[in-house]
Amino acid sequence: MASLRRAAAFVDDAAGRTGPLTNNSASHSTASAGNDFLPGPVLLLGAPGVGKGTQAQLLVTKYGIPQISTGDLLRGNIARGTELGLKAKEIMSAGLLVDDETVNQMVLHRLQEKDTHRGYILDGYPRTLDQAKFLDRTIADPIFLPRLPVIAVSIVVSYDQLLKRITGRRICPACKHIYNMYSNPPKVAGVCDLDGASLTQRGDDTEPVFVERMKTFDAQTAPVVAHYRDLGRFEEANGDQSVETVNVAIEQAIVKLRRASR
Ligand code: AP5
Repeated sequence: MASLRRAAAFVDDAAGRTGPLTNNSASHSTASAGNDFLPGPVLLLGAPGVGKGTQAQLLVTKYGIPQISTGDLLRGNIARGTELGLKAKEIMSAGLLVDDETVNQMVLHRLQEKDTHRGYILDGYPRTLDQAKFLDRTIADPIFLPRLPVIAVSIVVSYDQLLKRITGRRICPACKHIYNMYSNPPKVAGVCDLDGASLTQRGDDTEPVFVERMKTFDAQTAPVVAHYRDLGRFEEANGDQSVETVNVAIEQAIVKLRRASR
């Protein structure tokens, strides 16, 4: 759990992006990857609630690279009341996807930031085949660093577990740490352990919206899983285990895939 707490030391800037306060923890190495390990672009795939955000936060701490979450970027726009936010709010509350062009441009913009030069964790993007093709094309352009292809890890969790995770999720609006009322509650109900802020629940974390999000995942994101599997830069991780165990499996998959894809 200590590593989870370290992972939560995030800032959220005006662009709605998240990143670590310090990169000190990036120098921590695992038995399987040395300090010079270059993770490159890592994609976390999976249905709503499989633990992409939770695992992305741990990988950010581990590797000192940013998390790019299109869901967070869109929620940042909603919070700021931008034109995009107004449009996205309705779509997200229906469990549908924001159009590819909008999301692609948002990511393209984010990828031009210097903090992506050693790699980044993509969380929730791409989630259509067109987004995946756009991403692959974009980062093949040598102006984008690091000059490495995407490697994908798909987290798999049973449907019943997902529903519990979604309805039990609570988030700290200040540091973005993710809790769960059932599996990972805060010490004091409703209050963030790290900064004392009141925890919030996402508007789309209800059972009816979850059902729609699952349908959207099966129809539009399952082909993305197949796409990266076909490219051979793909591993699956069993997400029905403790956060720490899933994390070890994902890190091992990343090291294996990156060594094979250079
Ligand atoms: P987004 O924010 O990306 O949501 P999502 O993909 O549905 O995934 P979640 O954030 O719900 O879950 P997660 O896998 O990150 O799980 P978490 O780690 O929080 O997207 C929201 C919406 O934005 C979309 O529906 C769409 O409308 C729009 N959008 C976003 N990207 C888009 C795109 N590219 N194109 C178009 N539209 C887009 O964990 C969940 C809970 O489980 C937590 O409470 C956590 O504590 C708990 N937990 C995690 N791991 C474990 C474990 N191992 N054991 C027990 N509990 C665990």
